[in-house]
Amino acid sequence: MNAPAVALEVRNIARNFGGVVALRDVTFSVREGEVVGLIGPNGAGKSTLFEIVSGNIRPSGGRVAYFGRDCTTMASHLRRRAGMCRTFQKVRLFESMTVRQNISVAASQCLPKGRDLGEEVNNILAQMRLEHQAERRPSELTLADRKRVEIGRAIAGHCRLLMLDESLSGLTHDEAEHLIDEIMQLNRARGITVIVVEHVLSVLAAMVQRLVVLHNATVIADGTPSEVAHDPVVIEAYLGTKQKALR
Ligand SMILES: Nc1ncnc2c1ncn2[C@@H]1O[C@H](COP(=O)(O)OP(=O)(O)O)[C@@H](O)[C@H]1O
Ligand SMILES: [Mg+2]
Repeated sequence: MNAPAVALEVRNIARNFGGVVALRDVTFSVREGEVVGLIGPNGAGKSTLFEIVSGNIRPSGGRVAYFGRDCTTMASHLRRRAGMCRTFQKVRLFESMTVRQNISVAASQCLPKGRDLGEEVNNILAQMRLEHQAERRPSELTLADRKRVEIGRAIAGHCRLLMLDESLSGLTHDEAEHLIDEIMQLNRARGITVIVVEHVLSVLAAMVQRLVVLHNATVIADGTPSEVAHDPVVIEAYLGTKQKALR
């Protein structure tokens, strides 16, 4: 059997904002079908990396490849059409539209030819367990359901790689567990490769096969959750932070 394809490769990525170094020499890759956690304290550069991978901002240096194709300068809408999907740390929905309309607008922008829009929207509503909320507006939903709508919008139409920016944060333990189940279902049933950003490692330990740790703008560890939790460099980096993110 052939080894899985490399879904995403970031190589020597750098990004400055004025004098602030947000990312330097960030290199790692994610194989098709993997569920990978990207962790690090606030300000480590996680969201900036998603911005670069999805094409919203350009890196100051380095390359991004998506399924073997260099996309460092590709427009973000073309990456989206190629199945590169992401959510935002702060949920972004059309508040005046219903849940169904929110998903429909997203799906219509990247639905492959020959696929039926209404059917795709119904599939997404079912997949994200939002059927009963379909005619509601986002303001009537819990935070967990708002995050579901955002994930539904992110994957609607065509999705091969899903990047989730703190989709689990702010949820109760039970809400997070349900959402993790649904994300794992997207991975298994739709074959979607997933990268989940979190700042608390314990949230991800049961979910991911691999963890990449960002600290002070660069990767300090890349391994299984157990390897990372026992890595002296990671332990030292987190000791002394008030977040106790390793627990
Ligand atoms: N648009 C921006 N303008 C200026 N500085 C930014 C911008 N975006 C991020 N930064 C800075 O880059 C660093 C990394 O931020 P971010 O990627 O949001 O970290 P994380 O998501 O890991 O919390 C921080 O110091 C942040 O203040
Ligand atoms: Mg962030």
